[in-house]
Amino acid sequence: MPQKRLAVLFSGQGSNLESLLKTLHRYTFNGTTLNVVLTLTNKPTAGGIEKSRSYGIEPVVIDHTWFESREAFDGAVVEAIHKAQVDLVVLAGFMRILTPVFTQQVNAINLHPSLLPLFKGANAIKESYEAEVKEAGVSVHVVSEELDGGAIVLQEAFVKEVGMSYEAFEAKIRAIEHQLLPKAVIKLLC
Ligand code: GRF
Repeated sequence: MPQKRLAVLFSGQGSNLESLLKTLHRYTFNGTTLNVVLTLTNKPTAGGIEKSRSYGIEPVVIDHTWFESREAFDGAVVEAIHKAQVDLVVLAGFMRILTPVFTQQVNAINLHPSLLPLFKGANAIKESYEAEVKEAGVSVHVVSEELDGGAIVLQEAFVKEVGMSYEAFEAKIRAIEHQLLPKAVIKLLC
């Protein structure tokens, strides 16, 4: 049976890492079995570390503060990815601006909490909450040299309810993220 190997990169709580492990790891879709063979973080204190361990996967920690340049950090990450021989890298809340050292050598997708190309960057949830737009949502896109650029793999939108609190808005985004990222992986690999 065909097998596909995944790496998941994260920086924070790892709720998206957890949803990938829960819904995809060791499951078969359309005859293809998916295996998360590498988890990697740039933050030694990331909550996702324990989540990864709870699935028996010891994460690789490559702290970006150990390196003098973005390129040197990216080089170390690329080396770990190549060593793991993965078919796809998933950026699940990996909060790093990537250089061509990464983008030109790695086949990766990224999760972003807005309807790209709207609201690129690190404050997408707040900006889309505050903006005069009727819809908000989540995107999964191919990683390219342009920050939050690259071809869209999947998007899901929702209508902003009148008077919706920021907390409710954020919770809605997170719930969509947890569904959309696994769907995008299956779309690309299975
Ligand atoms: C997500 O909202 C993602 O879109 C953003 O960072 C968050 C990561 O959350 N870029 P988690 O670490 O997966 O819980």
